[in-house]
Amino acid sequence: MKNKLSLKIGLLFFVFILIIESILFIFLYFNLVNDRVDELLDGILIRGDNHRDVLEQSFTEETVHHVAVMETNAPNTVAITDEHNRVIESSEPVTSEMASLMAHTDTGPHEGRILSDDWRNDPYVVSESPIVINDEIEGYVYMLSDAGNIRTIINQLTNQFILAGILTLALTAGTIFLLTRFITAPIVRMREATERMSKGELDITLGYVRNDELGELEFSIRKLAQDLEKVKQERNDFLASIAHELRTPLTYLKGYADMAGREATKEKDRAEYLVILKEEAEQLNKLVNNLFELAKLDQNTFSIEKQRLPIRQPIDAVAKMMEPLLKEKGITLNIRCPEDLYADIDPERFQQVILNLVDNAVKYSHPSSAIQIIVAEGENEITINVSDQGEGIAKHHLPYLFDRLYRVDKSRSREFGGSGIGLAIVKKIIEAHGGSIEAKSVVGKGTEMIISLKKTCGDMSINE
Ligand SMILES: Nc1ncnc2c1ncn2[C@@H]1O[C@H](COP(=O)(O)OP(=O)(O)OP(=O)(O)O)[C@@H](O)[C@H]1O
Ligand SMILES: [Mg+2]
Repeated sequence: MKNKLSLKIGLLFFVFILIIESILFIFLYFNLVNDRVDELLDGILIRGDNHRDVLEQSFTEETVHHVAVMETNAPNTVAITDEHNRVIESSEPVTSEMASLMAHTDTGPHEGRILSDDWRNDPYVVSESPIVINDEIEGYVYMLSDAGNIRTIINQLTNQFILAGILTLALTAGTIFLLTRFITAPIVRMREATERMSKGELDITLGYVRNDELGELEFSIRKLAQDLEKVKQERNDFLASIAHELRTPLTYLKGYADMAGREATKEKDRAEYLVILKEEAEQLNKLVNNLFELAKLDQNTFSIEKQRLPIRQPIDAVAKMMEPLLKEKGITLNIRCPEDLYADIDPERFQQVILNLVDNAVKYSHPSSAIQIIVAEGENEITINVSDQGEGIAKHHLPYLFDRLYRVDKSRSREFGGSGIGLAIVKKIIEAHGGSIEAKSVVGKGTEMIISLKKTCGDMSINE
């Protein structure tokens, strides 16, 4: 059974509706039957009472005959008796069956009564209206109606009900079939789509999407498939890049190791090759460490341990660390940062961010140029601007700068030992702080990295 869900929902609906419909049908049927029978019984009683009223006015042979004649061609039979229930006159001959139904031991009320109403089993239903003159019972008017007629009417009603019931059942089943199809069709489509997704087919289309919760779910599944496709593509690209990154230094390592190992190699050259081997190995080590760091940042378990501290602290620490390198390249580092500006940051991680940015600024700047770090406090955020007067970055590279392993000029970056991971790490850390980073650059003039951090805990400026 392919569509189990629609069968289950359909059956459930059907059983519930069947129970409700049956209860309503039974209720309606018995009410109608009772009403119909009551109407008939009331009919003969009223007619009997009318005859009785006439006879009470004039209880003579002529009137009695007249009443009997009135009912001769009518569907009912009238029988008029004396006070001892002996038939004086009747519209039809009174049979023994009729007589037994007319028999009674007690005296009924003056307004008359139904003497026999068992229309299912008896041949007649009978009403009785006593004729009372001067407070004495002088006789009775009996109206007898053929119970067969009632049975026929009720049978017709029953047949109509059975027909209506069958029609209702068919309509209910049809409606439920269409409704469950309508409800379960998108669910079945989604199940098939997710099955295809699990087999690796990510380019899925779900056809017409409805404007309700199921439609939203379908939309989410499509988006999930697209995201998965993107992640798959990114992973493939990343693996290809890593393989490429590792291959280059490994080729160097192998080449220099081969040359150093040759007997013919002079001792002086061998020493030089060993130095290169060591440098290449260090670079490889750095690349692997950075990749490892990035992998850690990629995990959802990665958390930032924020502390409220002067934002100057990590910046000064980096400046101190970089001092020898800056001196060596003749680059000046200017820091402009309010002493009393506090921020909620993870000091170690934040230092890593500044270090990466200053390291880039130094690496990609000309000797004797200047680097500036300017920290400013806005209404809702703190901005940290790291700018240099270096070679700059062409506009079309800017959108990819923070992608892992992306470098503007591969050979030049390699020269400086760059692997293109620094800015990817920076972005991850800043985003984990709830902030953002963007790059602005003019080729030949310099580059500007702008970090923006939200002032999460109200006023961050606290005077010490
Ligand atoms: N201040 C800058 N001036 C010019 N180019 C820059 C600057 N900062 C980054 N870039 C360019 O962006 C690329 C990516 O920078 P990123 O810091 O991610 O990698 P890297 O410096 O090459 O290597 P890593 O930081 O991993 O050692 C660099 O290779 C470089 O081409
Ligand atoms: Mg870098």
